[in-house]
Order: sequence, then structure tokens, then C-alpha cells
Amino acid sequence: MNRILLIIGGGIAAYKCLDLIRRLRERGHHVRVVMTRAATEFITPLSVGALTNERVFTDLFDLDDEREIGHIRLARDCDLVVVAPGTADLMAKMAGGHANDLASTILLASDKPVLIAPAMNPRMWLNPATRRNAALLSADGVTFVGPGVGEMAERGEAGPGRLVEVPELVEAIERLLPTATMKDADGLLAGCHVLVTSGPTHEPIDPVRYIANRSSGKQGHAIAAAAAALGARVTLVSGPVAIADPVGVLVHRVETAAEMMEAVRGALPADVAVFAAAVADWRVDRAASDKIKKGAQGVPKLALIENPDILKTIASGRSGRPKLVIGFAAETSNVVAHAREKLRTKGADWIVANDVSHDSGIGGSQSGVMGGDANLVHLVRADGVESWPEASKSEVARRLMIAAAGAIGKSNKGR
Ligand code: C5P
Repeated sequence: MNRILLIIGGGIAAYKCLDLIRRLRERGHHVRVVMTRAATEFITPLSVGALTNERVFTDLFDLDDEREIGHIRLARDCDLVVVAPGTADLMAKMAGGHANDLASTILLASDKPVLIAPAMNPRMWLNPATRRNAALLSADGVTFVGPGVGEMAERGEAGPGRLVEVPELVEAIERLLPTATMKDADGLLAGCHVLVTSGPTHEPIDPVRYIANRSSGKQGHAIAAAAAALGARVTLVSGPVAIADPVGVLVHRVETAAEMMEAVRGALPADVAVFAAAVADWRVDRAASDKIKKGAQGVPKLALIENPDILKTIASGRSGRPKLVIGFAAETSNVVAHAREKLRTKGADWIVANDVSHDSGIGGSQSGVMGGDANLVHLVRADGVESWPEASKSEVARRLMIAAAGAIGKSNKGR
């Protein structure tokens, strides 16, 4: 049974949460509810409690609650935190890290995934302050569902700001819940060494310019974090990224493909190697030692040469080849066909293929997969293709590492 902590915010759409609770319980989930003070102005804790069949939490300083179940336990004893309706005020508190009532304290103290279903007046949603807060929350890994576009409760107001309908909310919630296999995965990679490459490489043109790409490193770093969470010893070889190092992972920072190759070689042997880095295919043959000047010489001609293919080199290595070698294929068209081809030419055991075109629609953002927090992947193996549903990069990472553990003969069965 999955445990959902539902935080009901103070908005007119709060009434939809009554139906949401019913639907979630019908589907076998346990639902515990925290209401903000404003939410209790719209629906009563009594009706919510009647539907959840347990007490509803509203106060940070209720001593009984603290003795029975402290706010830290409330924040942690769940698989997912859902904020609905996600008001502008709750979003601002979350983005600012405030903790001045029970709901915001729980959100700050929780280490669980958070889904927010915003609902507010369109002007409030479109206000630059709310835009900033939404961007900050997305960057922090909070998942958004909605808002929907349409008529508001206030007469004559329409636009983005409606709470999504209950079935869509249930679907979004279930996408983020761990599956039974995932819950059973603790310690699955204990005793294994997992090597991961991540991020872009920078190939110098001269001391100030370089060739690069749009890789954020989010997927590779999430894989390193997921492997560590499953108990592996993890070495992460990362190109230049703007995101934090995953906890409990040994990180080697590199700039160029050549440096990445050397760091990977130095980190072997490994049981599993995941090549998630977007390595530049070419580098400038002879990078200038001084800054290239504009002027008489005209536009400089850059002679490019090929970089070492790290994945191919390691996958085709005779001695010390990791038991499982996983590559990535970032494609903008014919994603699976290209991945199959890559599986063959690179000698990898698996290729994780993803659509990185701007208009893939993945993550609901304009930017698509690159730099975003969601991914939609196909796991391509010699014996077939598995298409996974769109999920957060952390969830894709966890699922991939659980599958990797299975492939190298590690399982929790009988433990
Ligand atoms: O050929 P392509 O760059 O599309 O292949 C992608 C896969 O190969 C990724 O797993 C990437 O990390 C890896 N790769 C590599 N070294 C290169 C180029 C790609 O390890 N020079």
C-alpha cells in the first residue's frame, strides 16, 4: 500500500480534494491529510477525516499531535507528498523555505517526492513572483500537474489557474508512486562498484572559448545518486555542470573528452558502467594557446578531429570490461532505430534511448528533456525494447539501477 500525504491548501478548489481522497482510497492507497488554516475555511477537517478514516492534522503546535506523531514523522512516513490546491502563498513559502505553519514545516522537512497541483486566479499564476517561485520549485525537483485553463470560480475570470480534474490528478500521483519492486530495492547494489559519466564536455578552441552542448548532467547525476541509494560504491566522472554533487558519491570533475576517458580508465574495475555524459564528438585539433583575435585574418577556420568514444572503448575492452555496460542515445528522430544501431556499433549491453527534441512535449516544458526534470526513455537490449512511461529523471534512474542489479544477478529475493 502506498502512503500519500495530502496537503490541502486554502483555495475554492479544496472541495475537489474530497473526491480525490475517495478515489485514492478506492485504488488502495493510504491517504493522510494536513490542512492549512485557510483550507479549513473552505472544507472542514470533519468531512476530510470521515473520508480518510483518521485524524486530520492542522496545527504545528498541537502538543497532542507532537506526542502522537511529530511533524518530522508526518513529513517522512509517506511515499509522496501532494499539495492540492497549491495556492500562490503555499508555493511562495515552499520556494522561500518558510516553516511557519504545519504544512510549510512538513514540506521543508520532507525527503519525499513532492507533487503540486496549483490552483489560483490566472493573474496570480501569471504574476512574475509566482512564475519565479514555480521555476525555483521545478529546479528543486518538485513536480507540477496543471494548472488547467478555463473559467474561474469568480465571474468573468478565465485563464490558467484551475486545479486539474481529479482523474488527471490521480494519474499524476500514481506516476510518482514507487512500484512494489522499487520499494523492495534497499541495499540491492551493496558490494558493487557503479561507474557513471555525466554532463557535457568542454573542448577548448582557445583559452576563453570552447565547444559544448546543452547537457545539464541531471540524468547522469540522478543515476549516480540512485546507485548510491541502493548501496553501491559509486564513482561519478562529470563534465562541467551547474548542479550539486550527489550525496555519498566519489566525484571526479573533468573538462574534456580526453580527461573523461582518462578518469574512466582510472576508476575501473566496475560492476556496472553507465555512460550518460554527452561527450563532444569532436575537438579542435590544435587549440590556440592565446585568445584568437578578430581582425585581419578573417574568420578562423577550426580544424576538428574526433574525440575518443569512451563507451565504445570500454564496452569493447577485453580485460576488465564491466559486467554491464549501459550507454545513452539522445536522439531527435527515429529514437529507437538509432538506439538499436548504437547498441550494435558501440558494443553496449543496453542503450537508454531518449527523445531530446525541443518539441517532444516531455516534462511539459518548452525546453524538453535537456535541462528538464522529466524523461521518457526506451530501454533497448539485444532481446527487445522496453518503453517506460514518462517519469522524473530520479525515477528513471532508480528504475534503471534496479534493472541493472537484476542483470548482474543481484536481487532481494529470499533476503
Ligand atoms: O554516438 P553518440 O554520441 O550518440 O553516443 C551516445 C553514447 O555514447 C552515450 O552513452 C555517450 O555517453 C557515449 N559516448 C562516449 N564517448 C563519446 C561519444 C559518446 O562515451 N566520445
